[in-house]
Amino acid sequence: MNIDEFLRPKILIVSGKGGVGKTTVAASLALVAARHGRKVCVAEVDRKGTLPKLFGTTKGSTYDAEELSPGVWGLNIIPEDALTEYLRVQYHMKRISKVFTSTHFVDYITTAAPGLKDILVLGKIWYLEQNREGTGGHGFDTIIVDAPAAGHMLTFLSAPSGLADAVRVGPIRRQAQWLVEMLEDPSRTRVHLVTLAEEMPVVESLETSAALDGRLGIQQGPIFANGIFSQLLTKKEEATLDRITSTDPATELCAEAQAVGLDLEQEDIDGLLGYERFLASRRSIQGVYLKQLQKEADQSVLELPFLFSAGLALPDIETLADVIEREVEEL
Ligand SMILES: Nc1ncnc2c1ncn2[C@@H]1O[C@H](COP(=O)(O)OP(=O)(O)OP(=O)(O)O)[C@@H](O)[C@H]1O
Ligand SMILES: [Mg+2]
Repeated sequence: MNIDEFLRPKILIVSGKGGVGKTTVAASLALVAARHGRKVCVAEVDRKGTLPKLFGTTKGSTYDAEELSPGVWGLNIIPEDALTEYLRVQYHMKRISKVFTSTHFVDYITTAAPGLKDILVLGKIWYLEQNREGTGGHGFDTIIVDAPAAGHMLTFLSAPSGLADAVRVGPIRRQAQWLVEMLEDPSRTRVHLVTLAEEMPVVESLETSAALDGRLGIQQGPIFANGIFSQLLTKKEEATLDRITSTDPATELCAEAQAVGLDLEQEDIDGLLGYERFLASRRSIQGVYLKQLQKEADQSVLELPFLFSAGLALPDIETLADVIEREVEEL
C-alpha cells in the first residue's frame, strides 16, 4: 500500500492493552507521517506524558501543542482544560471560574454524567481536526491519538453515540453527533490496535477488534504485533548449533571461534548459548500467538521488532518508523 493512502484518514487512533507499546507505536507512526510531509500532532490522553521523553524533550506534555521534533507536535488532552476551552469557544466565557473547571468539579459531574471526560477529550480531537480558530489547531494534517488501554478504549469511543442516544434534541445532541460522524467515517478516522505476541494481549486484541468491527462500526487498519524477537540464526545454523551443543559445546565452539580470530572463553560460550536458547524459545512462543492473530484477525498484522536498548529513544523510534514504512509498502 502506498504510504499516502495509508495516511489518508486524518485521525489515527492507537490502542491496545496496557504496556504493549501504544505510545511507542504512536510516536513511530508520527515519524512516518512527518517523513511524508505531514504536519503531525500526537495527542496523549492519559496524563502520563511519556511521549515527549521518547523525543528527548519535556515539551508537549501540556494542553497546548508544542513541537517535539521537526514536523511532529505533541499535546496532552487534559479533560479539565478541554472543558475550559469548550466553555470559552462555545459560550464565549472568557473568565471561567476555577470551581467550574477544577478536577474536583469535573470528577463530580463525570459521576453524574458518565462518559463526559471521554466526550471532552474527543471534542478536543474534533477541534484539532476541524482546525477552528482559537482551538489550538495549528493546521495539522495528521492527528495520532495515543488512546486509553483497550478496555477503556471501547467505552471511550462509544461515549458520543451514548450521549447522542441519551440527549434527543439541542446543541449537545448535535455536537455528540458530530463526534459520532467523525469516528464512524473511514475517510476521517482509523484505529490501529497494538499487541504483544502473547496469549492474553492477543485474545484481548481479537475481542476489541471484533467490537470495533461490530457494535462500534469504526474502521481499523493493520494490527501492530510489537516486541517480536528477531531470528538470529537460520534453520541450518540452528541445526549445526544443536549438533555441536549435543556433544562438547565448549571445546568445539572455542576452536571454531579461534579459527575466525575470536578469543572466547568457556563462560563467553555459555552466555552466548544461553542467549540464543532464550531467543529461540521466546520466538517459538511468539510464533504460536502470531499465527493465532494472523488467522483470526480480519486485519493484516505488521510485526515490529523487539529493540534491545535501555529505554527507547528517538533513534529506536526512527528504526521502528523504517519498519512500518517498509511493511506498509508491502501490504
Ligand atoms: N519494540 C520494542 N522493543 C523494546 N522495547 C519496547 C518496544 N516497544 C515498547 N517497548 C518498551 O515497553 C515499554 C512500554 O511501552 P509503551 O510505553 O510504548 O507502552 P504503552 O502501551 O504506551 O504503555 P501504557 O499502557 O502504560 O501507556 C516501554 O518501556 C517501552 O520502551
Ligand atoms: Mg502509553
